[in-house]
Amino acid sequence: MITKCLFPAAGYGTRFLPATKAMPKEMLPILTKPLIQYGVEEAHDAGCDVMAIITGRGKRAITDHFDISYELEHQIKGSDKESLLTDIRKLMNECTFTYTRQNEMKGLGDAIYKGKVLVGESAPFAVILADDLCVNDSGDGVMTQMVKLYEKYKCSIVAIMEVPKDQVHKYGVISGREIEKGIFMLDDMVEKPDNDKAPSNLAIIGRYILTPDIFEIIENTKPGKNGELQITDALLTQAKNGMVLGYKFKGKRFDCGSMDGFVEATNYFYNMEKSQKSKK
Ligand code: UTP
Repeated sequence: MITKCLFPAAGYGTRFLPATKAMPKEMLPILTKPLIQYGVEEAHDAGCDVMAIITGRGKRAITDHFDISYELEHQIKGSDKESLLTDIRKLMNECTFTYTRQNEMKGLGDAIYKGKVLVGESAPFAVILADDLCVNDSGDGVMTQMVKLYEKYKCSIVAIMEVPKDQVHKYGVISGREIEKGIFMLDDMVEKPDNDKAPSNLAIIGRYILTPDIFEIIENTKPGKNGELQITDALLTQAKNGMVLGYKFKGKRFDCGSMDGFVEATNYFYNMEKSQKSKK
């Protein structure tokens, strides 16, 4: 059973400056909901009830978001605005939120390693990068799809998607053998390769299921690209020692860490909301 989900959220979000100067990137809203709430909802739908968040300096708004706001709630009690807090209240009632800090931005591998105290070493856990916003209109959410796959293969899994060849340098890129339609047994992973040196155009996005032996592997992984501890490097070791799968998920992913992705996501959710309202 996968019951814990880790949210590395210690990054500076420099692409969104000055908006992210005093506000965490994960709190940027798509319509009325911050990015991290979409991620928590996806994890909750997949069966997780412990949300383990890796924060950093200046990220207090995340902690406050998943807590009671007495004055505000008292103020709107009995008004038609009360219903606007129904979803977040449900998450707060049904999940436990735990936090630890990554003091220095040393890479995603390091951020995940910091989560060891929160998720423990006895069970697999999910990882969601909240700035990758994923939706699937026609069925299970992406993390639910991955949890189902985990039940079959019991190994670490990364979500992958095809990206244009001139974009691969922005991602961790995989190669592997397709063992089922859309499921690859990975034999190589390269973090942010040059476009002409990438092993494929299958890019890793911000959804992972990791088995806990990853922590010991991270301990023995040296800093890689840009001097950061890369989770891709640790996953490659894990793949060589055993098995790691790449899963071509069903649904859409918006890169909300970039301006284009953020605007696309906003338009997408706005149109969805409008069409739902017009049906009522
Ligand atoms: P990004 O590189 O996309 O986020 O990391 P960033 O650094 O905040 O954004 P820019 O590039 O400066 O605009 C992907 C995810 O990994 C987390 C980030 O918070 C983000 O969710 N992360 C990355 C950490 O928590 N710690 C790190 O050391 C690195």
